[in-house]
Amino acid sequence: MCPYFLNHMDNNVIEDVRNRLSVASSVTILTGAGISAESGVPTFRGEDGLWRNYRAEELATPQAFKRDPVLVWEWYNMRRERLSDIEPNQAHYALARLEKRVGDFTLITQNVDGLHEKGGSRNIIELHGNIWRVRCTGCGGIKENHDVPIDIPPYCMDCGGLLRPHIVWFGEMLPDDVLSSAYSALEICKIMIVVGTSGIVQPAASMAYTAKRAGAYVIEVNLEMTPNSGIVDRTIIGKAAEILPLLI
Ligand code: OAD
Repeated sequence: MCPYFLNHMDNNVIEDVRNRLSVASSVTILTGAGISAESGVPTFRGEDGLWRNYRAEELATPQAFKRDPVLVWEWYNMRRERLSDIEPNQAHYALARLEKRVGDFTLITQNVDGLHEKGGSRNIIELHGNIWRVRCTGCGGIKENHDVPIDIPPYCMDCGGLLRPHIVWFGEMLPDDVLSSAYSALEICKIMIVVGTSGIVQPAASMAYTAKRAGAYVIEVNLEMTPNSGIVDRTIIGKAAEILPLLI
């Protein structure tokens, strides 16, 4: 089906999606950096995107951490500091409201900023981890850590091993349990909304297709067209913090 590109003032389309959502028994959401943009969190690939200013391979890979854990932790300290006083926006809050009224609701996010949880969402699958958690490179233990800044380099209280951010870096596999919960949610949902992701990084990039193939009605909300736009039922062009409250 040809996607429908919407100027968000088109009330018929908003109404149609609202009606579908109001009776949906099962909804899965996929979010990317764009949903946090209006909270002031930089995206990765936009004009001021993080990967424009920093080289991912020097900071977000296991090799970089092995070579220079202090440098990698300094970068994460900078990001933690920027995120520490940032609040969720109307898009995060709208998804938390939707979760309360849909029986079967799953929010899959690529974001590590923790803003969905802060905004009230509960059934969250964090594909790429969470910047507010640390993982021991020795015993594998995972702990919440909200220190800003974190002492560098941080060590595990249990085994003394070096701690790393609990984030999936480039070249690393996503944990099996995380992936299988995400695919279950994609395969059973009746409606999927894909919000603020460039649709470039796998496996998230093909999740809209997975849900579509399993029979879901798929809506995309983004500032621009993406590789997902060709396979979804509707692409709504606009800011997540404006569009999601209209839909929900
Ligand atoms: P990107 O930075 O690649 O894409 C952000 C998307 O959000 C773009 O398609 C923008 O058009 C859109 N966007 C920006 N502002 C928006 C707004 N206000 N409302 C709606 N859409 C908006 O971010 P991701 O797709 O999340 O991985 O990137 C995927 C992964 O690549 C990240 O999780 C990260 C990165 O490398 C890791 O760090 C492992």
